Amino acid sequence: MNKILISVAALCMLVSCGNSGTATEKTDKAMTVEEVIMSRRSIRKYKPQPVEREKMEKIALCGINAPNGQNKQSWEIRITDNPEFISAITDAYLKIYPEAAQDSNFVNIFRNAPTVAFIANDTAYELSQIDCGLLGGNMVLMAHAMGIGSCCLGSPVRFLKSAEGMPFLKELGFSQGYNLLYAIGFGYPDEEPAAKPRSMDKVKFL
Ligand SMILES: Cc1cc2nc3c(=O)[nH]c(=O)nc-3n(C[C@H](O)[C@H](O)[C@H](O)COP(=O)(O)O)c2cc1C
Repeated sequence: MNKILISVAALCMLVSCGNSGTATEKTDKAMTVEEVIMSRRSIRKYKPQPVEREKMEKIALCGINAPNGQNKQSWEIRITDNPEFISAITDAYLKIYPEAAQDSNFVNIFRNAPTVAFIANDTAYELSQIDCGLLGGNMVLMAHAMGIGSCCLGSPVRFLKSAEGMPFLKELGFSQGYNLLYAIGFGYPDEEPAAKPRSMDKVKFL
């Protein structure tokens, strides 16, 4: 276990090199796994620049190293940092739900993230949704360790599966039999939200 902590800490130290800004200050020194988990929060306000592709590759690599049933790797991931694609989806959404843009922080329907990962599960495998959840867990934690904010997103998926969103879903090009499950927005945080309360009452020992 110590070995794991040390190697994650070393990785955190490595990936924090070159980062700057408020949300990344805590990554200037290595965080333990516990610190990474406990300090991650969903981010909905970002600096405009997308996450560098090599960093997204590292985040995706950590995602696909999640435990998964029978190592079927029953997921597919599509990542976009294309502002035109993100704007086109947002514009189509706003035609139906114009009130969404009333939020003074509104930039796009992915909770303003400049980089978005879309995650689809293999519908032929009954545990694939769990695989995809664990994949995303790894991704958001690794991102946080690198000073990159994230927010898991269910609501844009509903739109992408509607008639108006379908052309964009097709552009994502998931394989036959894969179902878009959720998205994760990524970017450099421009806010530091407080933790939402959690209840240990959900946990019982027998
Ligand atoms: C499957 C899933 C779907 C979510 N969908 C949305 C969403 O559509 N919009 C949003 O703002 N946050 C969304 N969230 C983020 C949650 O609101 C957030 O994780 C939760 O409130 C706990 O806050 P924390 O992540 O800061 O600890 C989603 C999270 C998960 C895991």
